[in-house]
Amino acid sequence: MAKEKLKTIYVCTNCGEVYHRWQGQCNSCKEWNTITEDVIDTSPVSSKAAARNSSSRVSFSQLSEVDADDTRNRIKTKISELDRVLGGGIVRGAGMLIGGEPGAGKSTLLLQICGNLCHDWHVAYVSGEESVSQIKLRANRLGIDGRNIAIATETDVYAICRSIEEMKPDILVIDSIQTMNCSTVNSSPGSVTQVRECTSLLLNTAKKCDTALFIVGHVNKDGAIAGPKVMEHIVDTVLYFEGDKTLPYRILRASKNRYGSTNEIGMFDMSSKGIVEILNPSMMLLEGKGNNVSGSCVTCIIEGSRPILTEIQSLTTKTSFGTPRRAAAGIDYTRLNLLLAVLEKRAGFFIGNMDIYINVVGGLELEETSIDLAVILSVFSGLTDKCIPDDLVVFGEVGLGGEVRNVTNADLRLKEIQRLGFSKVIIPSRSVRQIDKNDYNLEIYGVDNVMQAIHLI
Ligand SMILES: Nc1ncnc2c1ncn2[C@@H]1O[C@H](COP(=O)(O)OP(=O)(O)OP(=O)(O)O)[C@@H](O)[C@H]1O
Ligand SMILES: [Mg+2]
Ligand SMILES: [Zn+2]
Repeated sequence: MAKEKLKTIYVCTNCGEVYHRWQGQCNSCKEWNTITEDVIDTSPVSSKAAARNSSSRVSFSQLSEVDADDTRNRIKTKISELDRVLGGGIVRGAGMLIGGEPGAGKSTLLLQICGNLCHDWHVAYVSGEESVSQIKLRANRLGIDGRNIAIATETDVYAICRSIEEMKPDILVIDSIQTMNCSTVNSSPGSVTQVRECTSLLLNTAKKCDTALFIVGHVNKDGAIAGPKVMEHIVDTVLYFEGDKTLPYRILRASKNRYGSTNEIGMFDMSSKGIVEILNPSMMLLEGKGNNVSGSCVTCIIEGSRPILTEIQSLTTKTSFGTPRRAAAGIDYTRLNLLLAVLEKRAGFFIGNMDIYINVVGGLELEETSIDLAVILSVFSGLTDKCIPDDLVVFGEVGLGGEVRNVTNADLRLKEIQRLGFSKVIIPSRSVRQIDKNDYNLEIYGVDNVMQAIHLI
């Protein structure tokens, strides 16, 4: 038998590039302090000739004859926000990676999934972090009786794989990949080689047994899943649980999905009874909106396939000395400056001596350009102390010429606006031409440029 030859290498945890000595910056991805020590086994692989001479063949089948029905193969988790993010439910045999800050609620969500599915499916939960009794305590708190949930505390990947092959569970949860250990790899758990090896072993076994696999991954200081990027390539779906302690809600987002769109988000509330889905985010975001306050403007964005109403606030004060301050929470700072320049140049408001602060209520990060008009009107309202009517919603992209441009999904937005009881909208004229005004019980004002919108206030 070949003698084990161990070698120390240095691997970038961000991109997986290998180095022979440590260095501060990765040459390949230019990240700093991402290179960590790792040990690999360089003993020769069992005879190549034997592999070449083996008689194994690939079995091909006709694509047309493959039996696959998307709706039948999906397992509904009964958490509709999660099902939507997954693209309609869990796909059998899929590997799903869930990342998130400590305390985001990854273990809670997965235990709740197990609780929802355990009556109809064979569910197993393996934790490398918590003892069986700790998991039981959480289950008690969440009101899960756990009669059909198999749980175990284990970090040995080979042992887990053998058990999967015997049990063939429909759903398997691995909490967390960083604690898993593959005994044929010499580096410590959590290292790049370990994580990569454990992930592929687990995925291969799960695919063979048609087991849907959830893997929890810790995140590094930048919020990306810690470990090699290759891990994200080999799984089918990568989900991120966003939201810190200061936010009242958590957002689940797919950054990769082989079986669905990555635009969808799921919104959840964290309560002592566990994770509760927020089915009406607009209502929650508009809760507590003041009446007749200047500087406040409601707009409508589209997250995935869902319209969400949210409030944009601005505050303008005289600059006491030096250069004026501009601050934006929830929208892009550069975009804010651009919109302020449009307001100054195209609408003739002098704001060179004003501090301007923008805040998106509820802590959402808005990236859509459809919020432009609402930002401008909110600043206008703050500057002039003219209140924007409480029953008005505004959306539209603004160009550098001060023109108001068309946005997508005007009909979806208008339906949501109407549903929440608003009665007036200011939207791009082009969008008005694309819809049938009679479909909505709203006063619809179409505008071509920023000045027209300002005159309507
Ligand atoms: N007794 C409790 N009552 C209410 N909320 C609780 C209670 N215990 C824990 N929580 C909440 O549950 C959350 C922890 O969830 P969970 O353990 O699922 O997180 P996690 O993402 O798995 O974290 P980690 O990465 O550390 O494992 C915490 O944010 C906390 O607010
Ligand atoms: Mg956990
Ligand atoms: Zn790198």
